[in-house]
Amino acid sequence: MKLLFLNGPNMNMLGVREPDIYGRQTYADLENYIRDFCRELGIECELYQSNHEGDLVDAIQRAYGTVDGIVINPAAYTHTSVAILDALKAVGLPAVEVHISAVSERESFRQVSYAGMACCKTFAGHGFAGYRMAAEHLLALQRGVIAGASSQVEITVE
Ligand code: DQA
Repeated sequence: MKLLFLNGPNMNMLGVREPDIYGRQTYADLENYIRDFCRELGIECELYQSNHEGDLVDAIQRAYGTVDGIVINPAAYTHTSVAILDALKAVGLPAVEVHISAVSERESFRQVSYAGMACCKTFAGHGFAGYRMAAEHLLALQRGVIAGASSQVEITVE
């Protein structure tokens, strides 16, 4: 199984940006964490981070026919981007949304997730572990352990 891990704007500033919310680990630490658990789970992974909405749309389009699923933290674009929502819908790949922080407990403008409307599940507030939970969810979906990629919209928050 091959998964694309997509991270949106300012995720490259992890470790520096608002450490009280996002922790002190860096984006490089996140990449290492993802590569390590993917190796352990037998998942082939591709990682991409961009601060630009169109780049993220391009990455989602490139995923069509090349990966089996997408783990996406669209960061601030979560709350604004119909373009990312449409790209996820266009490729029709199983996708899981991840947020490091517990967005549901934060500002009102963070309560809308456009990308989440095209995702079968959301993990928020689990820190880096949310990426692993998302990958395990997609693995279970592929193995048929759980049914229905798009019909189950579920959110877990720590
Ligand atoms: C975030 C939450 C978003 O609201 C915020 O804009 C981010 C990071 C998270 O991982 O908690 O940049 O997606």
